[in-house]
Amino acid sequence: MADELQSRGLRPFTIVHPRAIIGPETTLEPGCVVLGGAHVSSSVTLARHVQVNYNATVGHDAVLEEFATVLPGANVAGTTHIGAAAAIGSNACVLQGLAVGAGAVVGAGAVVTRNVPSAVVAKGVPARW
Ligand SMILES: CC(C)(COP(=O)(O)OP(=O)(O)OC[C@H]1O[C@@H](n2cnc3c(N)ncnc32)[C@H](O)[C@@H]1OP(=O)(O)O)[C@@H](O)C(=O)NCCC(=O)NCCS
Repeated sequence: MADELQSRGLRPFTIVHPRAIIGPETTLEPGCVVLGGAHVSSSVTLARHVQVNYNATVGHDAVLEEFATVLPGANVAGTTHIGAAAAIGSNACVLQGLAVGAGAVVGAGAVVTRNVPSAVVAKGVPARW
């Protein structure tokens, strides 16, 4: 849908709530939404149309590919890689350095302790799929 709208001349813009914190050397591509209370650390890459919800955190040097969504209160640790269109559920935790594959869904409250393949639903503590 985003591509269709863009092909018709619409340009995405980025919204960062005034109560969100964005660290130094972090880049947000067009279409990103960062909501109140979110804290995105330093040297993070948010690709186009990434959404970081209320009170979520994203650690240093993380890379979130396009259309990835971090739901409220989730913690995506430093140096993680979140694939395109992946969703990290409310209050879930992705431990440092891990990768979540494209289109995967991490359930609410899950703790991700190893890499998650693409397009699976990972849930529980530790997360299983
Ligand atoms: C993980 C999730 C994607 C699974 O959705 P689903 O495939 O529709 O799963 P169901 O609701 O059919 O539940 C299937 C089973 O998984 C369990 N389950 C569902 N969500 C779970 C979770 N987050 N953690 C652990 N178990 C979960 C259910 O209890 C059920 O177990 P049972 O078969 O023993 O009864 C979803 O529950 C979830 O957590 N989504 C994220 C929601 C969120 O963060 N929303 C934010 C809104 S702002």
